[in-house]
Amino acid sequence: MSARAHRLGRTLLKCNFSYGTVRFQSASATPLARQLNAKIQVAGPLTVADYMKEVLVNPTAGYYPTKEAIGAKGDFVTSPEINQLFGEMIAVWILSEWQKVGAPKPMQLVEFGPGKGTLMSDILRVFNHFKIDGVSVHLVELSQKMRESQAKLLCSEATLGKNEEHQLQVVSGTTSTDYPISWHNHHSEVPRDAFSCIVAHEFFDALPVHKLRKTAEGWREILVDIDTESKDIKFRYILSREPTPISQLYTPKDCDTREDIEICPSAGALMQSLAQRFEEDGGFLLLADYGHDGDKTDTFRGFSDHQLHDPLLNPGSADLTADVDFSYLKRSVEEKALTFGPVTQEKFLNSLGIQVRLNILLQNDGLSAEQKAILKSGVEMMTDASKMGERFKFFSMFPNVLGEHLGKYPVLGF
Ligand SMILES: C[S@@+](CC[C@H](N)C(=O)[O-])C[C@H]1O[C@@H](n2cnc3c(N)ncnc32)[C@H](O)[C@@H]1O
Repeated sequence: MSARAHRLGRTLLKCNFSYGTVRFQSASATPLARQLNAKIQVAGPLTVADYMKEVLVNPTAGYYPTKEAIGAKGDFVTSPEINQLFGEMIAVWILSEWQKVGAPKPMQLVEFGPGKGTLMSDILRVFNHFKIDGVSVHLVELSQKMRESQAKLLCSEATLGKNEEHQLQVVSGTTSTDYPISWHNHHSEVPRDAFSCIVAHEFFDALPVHKLRKTAEGWREILVDIDTESKDIKFRYILSREPTPISQLYTPKDCDTREDIEICPSAGALMQSLAQRFEEDGGFLLLADYGHDGDKTDTFRGFSDHQLHDPLLNPGSADLTADVDFSYLKRSVEEKALTFGPVTQEKFLNSLGIQVRLNILLQNDGLSAEQKAILKSGVEMMTDASKMGERFKFFSMFPNVLGEHLGKYPVLGF
């Protein structure tokens, strides 16, 4: 079984300085390639962030709204899909941290980018087991296709409403554990005035990154343009001749020796908005993703059919992702909130007792030898340093007001 994080490779940057455009349409191009071709012809090259956003979430032709992304038949596999123990450990972490601050109710259990809904389903099974009440579930998900999978797995009933484009969307319902559940397009739509426990697994890596390169004239932004040398619709990277707002605002410090950087302003803005929410209404964030501490240069890549894929090829047909820069997330909320981590997935899951839970399950006579072998290899896949244990990291954020309390009762797993 493969996971996206195992397949990090450098994308080839073909930079030149022409802004030429072409006027033909290719029958073999993806619907999104045709849309992007038209957009660039009218408005000029796109930032890599605008390109990535269109590819991932364009409502009619983007990757998540149209493709079967996750699972053996999709393009990549994530930890919650490997094994139920992953979600159970996350549930134990949430309940432990929530109880530590007095189990405030009502509690909003929020997930960003819930994929097939498997992680939330495993969390809710644990909540149900401990008979936790006063909970509402909130899923931040743009893709209607994904919302449908989530509703199918999680709900005893779900209702439809219309989005801004007047398309029908899953909007609310009741979970099979009897909690009210609602879907939101954006984190700011999750209701205020209640304590929020927020989980984001492989969500931040899908937020759009800008790419900057150091040149003799200063930092310049890498853009996506149409490849005029090709007969078909093809895209290529070019370097902006002039500074852009992003290259002016996000210039790295002089001590940073990198020649290429990726910057994700929407991740920074999200962290700041959550810090504000936690300060005013209470709550915490648990984030799990692959990432680095501000030392990587070029991690923007595509995945299709469990293989690396050129991000500029057939847009909308493959997943796009970039490693999360944890040092940037920390800097974004400096003095506004407390952050912990990143720690490796191996350390986090082991300190939550995944091996103990595995051993209990392995003693269950109701499970076949094959089921036990699958459970064992799943835990190994998630925790072994050479597999997903080292590359995947956990990171958390709490409001400043809990500083003294968390000094006495440290955050589990960090
Ligand atoms: C890589 S998948 C991760 C799914 C799930 N968390 C898991 O680990 O299996 C990314 C998820 O985020 C959603 N997504 C991506 N960009 C989003 C955005 N800007 N707003 C809301 N959801 C988004 C996708 O539709 C998908 O459900």
